[in-house]
Amino acid sequence: MEEKVNVLISEEEVDKRIKEMASELSRKYKGSTVHMIGILKGSIMFLSELSKHMTVPVTMDFMAVSSYGNGTSSSGQVNLKLDLSVDIEGRDVVVVEDILDSGRTLSYVVELLKSRNPETLKVVTLLDKPDRRVVPVELEMTGFEIPDRFVVGYGLDYAEKYRNLPYIGALD
Ligand code: IMP
Ligand code: MG
Repeated sequence: MEEKVNVLISEEEVDKRIKEMASELSRKYKGSTVHMIGILKGSIMFLSELSKHMTVPVTMDFMAVSSYGNGTSSSGQVNLKLDLSVDIEGRDVVVVEDILDSGRTLSYVVELLKSRNPETLKVVTLLDKPDRRVVPVELEMTGFEIPDRFVVGYGLDYAEKYRNLPYIGALD
């Protein structure tokens, strides 16, 4: 069955905003190397587009986590499924994520990474749904704040579909 996808943020708007984010991040990290950590799989498109426009040196690594229970259940537990390939001690780490929703995933990731003694640790997301927050997460930067709607595209999926769309669409 095909769902109907309505464009919420166009390809042009997304690309323009990511370029702005890359220049702001490059300014903030002038003189250092940014170690970007992408959370699989949702962050892949955002991470590649963001990193393409960075003007400081960038290194990359990835991790995968799974959350059990949906965003509305109170027991939503997060587990590590794939760990990083290199040590982050002493590095300037930027966690790159597709969307901040309940906050469970990112608060788990931030706590885990903090315990490994990076020099600095910041979080950037392409999207933020502030109305859905259950656990607070401090963001360095976000692309767009969006209302409480289920979105797909630019890495985000519905049952593994639509990650490849070059825009953000709403399923409704
Ligand atoms: P959180 O732990 O509730 O903040 O959830 C974050 C994860 O849930 C994201 O990394 C996404 O994989 C997924 N997610 C949350 N909202 C959406 C959405 O609107 N569309 C697709 N995936 C979503
Ligand atoms: Mg995700």
